[in-house]
Amino acid sequence: MRIEDKLSERTQHMQASAIREILKVVAQPGMISLAGGIPAPESFPIDIIRELSNEVLDEFGAAALQYDKTEGFDPLREALINYLPQRNLVNVNDKTLTIFSGSQSILDIVAKVLITKGDKIAIEAPSYLGAISAFNAYQPEYISVATDDEGIMPDALEETLKQHTIKLIYLVPTFQNPTGRTLPLARRKRIAELIQHYDVLLLEDDPYSALRYRGEAVSSIQQFAPEHVIYSSTFSKILAPGLRIGFGIAPEALTHWLVIAKQGTDLHTQSFGQAIAALYLSGGYLTEHLPRIIELYRPRRDAMLKALETYMPQGFRWTEPEGGMFLWVMGPDGLDAENLYHQCVQNSVAFVPGRYFYFEQGVGIETLRLNFTMVSADMITQAVQTIASAAEAMMLSNQ
Ligand SMILES: Cc1ncc(COP(=O)(O)O)c(C=O)c1O
Repeated sequence: MRIEDKLSERTQHMQASAIREILKVVAQPGMISLAGGIPAPESFPIDIIRELSNEVLDEFGAAALQYDKTEGFDPLREALINYLPQRNLVNVNDKTLTIFSGSQSILDIVAKVLITKGDKIAIEAPSYLGAISAFNAYQPEYISVATDDEGIMPDALEETLKQHTIKLIYLVPTFQNPTGRTLPLARRKRIAELIQHYDVLLLEDDPYSALRYRGEAVSSIQQFAPEHVIYSSTFSKILAPGLRIGFGIAPEALTHWLVIAKQGTDLHTQSFGQAIAALYLSGGYLTEHLPRIIELYRPRRDAMLKALETYMPQGFRWTEPEGGMFLWVMGPDGLDAENLYHQCVQNSVAFVPGRYFYFEQGVGIETLRLNFTMVSADMITQAVQTIASAAEAMMLSNQ
């Protein structure tokens, strides 16, 4: 049997991520990898999770192991409804909140509910590839909206909204993956006005805003237009991604459909993990542990910025994110970052060439995504030195 002949039209549009191939290479021993996009294992609160695992069984007993309702485990829902407004991030209530299996599954389920083949999704370029692979199954058309150093440009978005019937806008406004950029407050307010004016839904994907090392928190777009925004976040970066606990906040009428679609996908998110997340929040453990994660990552981010400043040749620029896990390096025109990647891998240093984060071909050739959470500050300095020397050598040989 040729399985290829049996695949649905939808499956034929799916592609293996090129980044997975890179991540296989960088798993080799001795490699200093700035390529990954995952939390540092030492950021996981193993002792807290051990303690909470017992507490969950004492407090919730069989309920933590039983099937549960699709909307989510009540103690976690209550804990989030209490906690989120304290962070002054989002508008949330019992009718707009749903717990999902990681925020990745929100991307899939939102597209499942909203996207018919050929519908247009406006996205910033570069963008989070995992979103594109989730959306691809529903065969949308992508409309790329121009960005600058502050993220998506509202005027360009308005132009897109005038020219196209956009079904959904997808943005990562805070510490974006891959660029680390954060959309300033004024742009958020303007985007909130635009989506209300043009009556378009926006998916605001926010996995990173809790990881802030410098500066002040910025309001979510959702706060300014709750009837037009699906806000999505996760416990993956502040607890542990293996638990697969994410949450979405959507207008009430849409939440109804998200819950129905989720029922067909997985009935509900795993109860035990939700119970752990509930106690992690309501017992004050997040408040205790989050500063430790921040103190782990802040020196790594600072070391990367210092090393870039010290070693990178002229002609390179980079973002200076106040949080999150990534920064974005822009080389001079003519620099082929994929070539640079191959040179660096030979010297046991890896990153992701930025072109992989664009869905169009031939753009972002001179860009690099660097992760600063996975390795120590010393190794980051060493890795940036290697990248800088290889870049310098390449630029000299191009002259
Ligand atoms: C922008 C963005 N959205 C969503 C996700 C998925 O996260 P989760 O573990 O919550 O599924 C990631 C993971 O890195 C991400 O970077």
